[in-house]
Amino acid sequence: MEKVLVLDFGGQYNQLIARRVRENNVYSEIRPYTAPIEEIAAAGYKGIILTGGPKSVYGENAVLYSKKLFELGVPILGICYGAQLMSHMLGGVVEAGANEYGKVEVKVDQKSKLFADIPAKTVCWMSHTDYIKQIPLGFKIIGKTDDCPVAAMENAADKLYAVQFHPEVMHTQLGSQMIRNFLYNVCECKGEWTMSSFTTHTIEDLKNKIGNKKVLCALSGGVDSSVAALLLHRAVGDNLTCIFVDHGLLRKDEANQVNNLFKGTYNINLISIDASEQFLGQLRGISEPEQKRKIIGREFIRVFEAEAKKIGKVDYLVQGTIYPDCIESGVGDAALIKSHHNVGGLPDHVDFDEIIEPLRDLFKDEVRKVGLELGMPENMVYRQPFPGPGLGVRIIGELTREKIAILQDADAIFREEIANAGLDREIGQYFAVLTNMRSVGVMGDFRTYDYTVALRAVTTSDFMTADWARIPYDVLDAASRRIVNEVKGVNRIVYDITSKPPATIEWE
Ligand code: XMP
Repeated sequence: MEKVLVLDFGGQYNQLIARRVRENNVYSEIRPYTAPIEEIAAAGYKGIILTGGPKSVYGENAVLYSKKLFELGVPILGICYGAQLMSHMLGGVVEAGANEYGKVEVKVDQKSKLFADIPAKTVCWMSHTDYIKQIPLGFKIIGKTDDCPVAAMENAADKLYAVQFHPEVMHTQLGSQMIRNFLYNVCECKGEWTMSSFTTHTIEDLKNKIGNKKVLCALSGGVDSSVAALLLHRAVGDNLTCIFVDHGLLRKDEANQVNNLFKGTYNINLISIDASEQFLGQLRGISEPEQKRKIIGREFIRVFEAEAKKIGKVDYLVQGTIYPDCIESGVGDAALIKSHHNVGGLPDHVDFDEIIEPLRDLFKDEVRKVGLELGMPENMVYRQPFPGPGLGVRIIGELTREKIAILQDADAIFREEIANAGLDREIGQYFAVLTNMRSVGVMGDFRTYDYTVALRAVTTSDFMTADWARIPYDVLDAASRRIVNEVKGVNRIVYDITSKPPATIEWE
């Protein structure tokens, strides 16, 4: 299959670049700049994209790459730092001093293959302080701004292209077209990567690999494990067994929905365990967030292990790992920040021969498309992420059945109002939090002393950074009125207007 390499120099938009390539139906993979040139040369890429990055091409801490990269004969597109790297390594001059940040009008050379079907002036997103002062021999300038003499350059004969701006971000109006131009006009890709062909091939491959052997899958009801389970079910039918552990910290009615869909609609061999007594027993008196997380993770493994033992040895264990979980960063510590979120360790407690990860090459939006291909209902496919420890980290302080019920009801109302307003696809994550605070209120002739519920809603592309969602006042008003009227024990609603950083998305 044709594929394009995104060579990662540590820029913040690198996964976005890879996604944009795939949206144009070409498979892409991300590798760190520490990847050896020999491996890259041998991989047979149709094209290479050099990403942005925080470093400079000059000075003591410069990050460079083997010059042989430019001699492979593979088309290359340098973006931002990648553009400067190309210039520097091929004999051009890069210097500090032409700050540009934000939307900037770029005048482009429409005769370039990179700018086919792009108007002579187009708005692009810039974010740089270094700039290309002088292009290397053999290149020509194909883009300029008022402040930047080389907003884009090419050496068409050697299929080398570079842009100082970021075509991968939305603010570059025709960025996707530019990436498409690179893929189809320069790299001559055919566009073989589609989710329907992925789905068909994966089911076929799984059938061939697994045959009549036994497969076990931990189903959480989240998008990844649900899609993984459905793919496996299509491939091996009743040889798949799923285990669903209800820890009592799920959203309102969620356990029923999972059971109805997978057992009822899909007829999947599903073992569903209500382990809420066990979880809440272990969590009694515990209010420290990390301790709650640890206990929930530990009990999950215990319950799963006990059920898996009843089944006995299986041949395969399915995991819903997706591509962003696997990208070897090699740059920065993005991978570290997220690691605590995963409830790991399951494979150590189950008797199996091999792990299967059918989604390990896919980005989240691709997993959703596979879900649609498999006929999953849209409300499942577009579910927002839900943390493994569930409402356990959305109830501040100790967990009790009363508090869980209050939060489930408040959260269900908030989600319903967001959906009624048609905002559910726009907002990355939205939920209610039960604070541990009670305050005085009045209801009719009575004074109340009830809980404060916080509403949280964020827009985000990667959950590493997030902005609070500007939900219309009317929607907040409807949610607030309904929650205090319909949920006993709540008399005050607040809306969280902090971004991440410095806050996190969850409250615990
Ligand atoms: P934070 O709160 O760190 O959340 O900004 C970022 C994303 O991770 C989710 N999250 C978790 N997911 N186990 C999980 O599986 C956890 O312990 C956990 N804590 C946070 C959070 O919902 C958001 O999507």
